[in-house]
Amino acid sequence: MAEPSFETALVTGATGYVGSRLAARLVGLGKRVHVVARPGSRLDLLAPIADRLTVHRHDGTTEGLVAIVADARPDVAFHLASNFIAQHVTADVAGLVGANLLFPTQLLEALASAHVDRLIATGTSWQHYEDAPYRPVDLYAATKQAFEDVLAYYADACGMKATTLVLFDTYGPRDPRGKLVSLLWRTARAGRPLAMSPGEQKLDLVHVDDVVEAYLVAAALLDGRAEPTRRYGVATGRPLALRESVAIFERATGLRVPIAWGERPYRPREVMTPWTTWDALPGWTARIALEDGLIGTEPDGV
Ligand SMILES: NC(=O)c1ccc[n+]([C@@H]2O[C@H](COP(=O)([O-])OP(=O)(O)OC[C@H]3O[C@@H](n4cnc5c(N)ncnc54)[C@H](OP(=O)(O)O)[C@@H]3O)[C@@H](O)[C@H]2O)c1
Repeated sequence: MAEPSFETALVTGATGYVGSRLAARLVGLGKRVHVVARPGSRLDLLAPIADRLTVHRHDGTTEGLVAIVADARPDVAFHLASNFIAQHVTADVAGLVGANLLFPTQLLEALASAHVDRLIATGTSWQHYEDAPYRPVDLYAATKQAFEDVLAYYADACGMKATTLVLFDTYGPRDPRGKLVSLLWRTARAGRPLAMSPGEQKLDLVHVDDVVEAYLVAAALLDGRAEPTRRYGVATGRPLALRESVAIFERATGLRVPIAWGERPYRPREVMTPWTTWDALPGWTARIALEDGLIGTEPDGV
């Protein structure tokens, strides 16, 4: 991979799973890394690199974020912060809009006022239900899209170059998010049947190390690019049915996962086939096959 040319990066969502792995990779490359955390954010995932990055606690105000970005003076910002809720209830609305629209708009304002003109942001394949150019699966995906509309303004009006990486499913070691792979480990170890849907829905699982590499490739591509905004899918392009993914898990780990298929219905607006018409990120491909990538993903405390 081409060495990214920037020296200083600002990362949002760095206390989360993908963001913490990106921050660690950037630190490993010798970059200066600033992260934006909330007053109550836990820094557990950043503990191994805590002495090699600068943590800024954002007080929630636009002015506060403007001051943080002015202080950090990054060459590029990586925006990964998000509130993910698959099926929201009324009480979730403010949190979704706050995390996925207000906070990143504050970030754009702060970047613009500090003349930071390079941004890598994060979208979701769920903005493309049933392969539509835009049809959000849920309110989470709708708020992600709303941010991209705001981004179009800042990129155009402020001379910013921004790439949105559209993520599909991610997995990897030390993943605290309780997603599919962690659930499979827990179910296999517990040996108690887990009720699931019929399992025909397809997933495109990308190893977190491949995802992190996509952010670096995307940042390198900003140099010299003409268009203000671009979006690329971060996917293998070979989605597998949930049943097939579980079979690969069983082969890779040598464990049996006692799943009671069809004991639960599909959820409303289940994504049966992920988005297919994404643009590939030039110079990037998912390198880690699922059977290899699953090794070492057993969560702590199983
Ligand atoms: N399956 C996938 O992994 C997938 C698929 C599609 C898209 N994505 C996107 O990929 C990105 C990374 O996902 P992830 O799974 O690594 O996330 P994650 O582990 O859930 O972490 C979320 C991060 O966002 C921060 N955050 C939440 N609400 C915030 C707010 N109101 N203001 C500021 N920061 C806030 C969290 O900070 P705290 O520590 O303070 O909570 C945390 O650092 C997200 O943008 C997500 O939407 C992921």
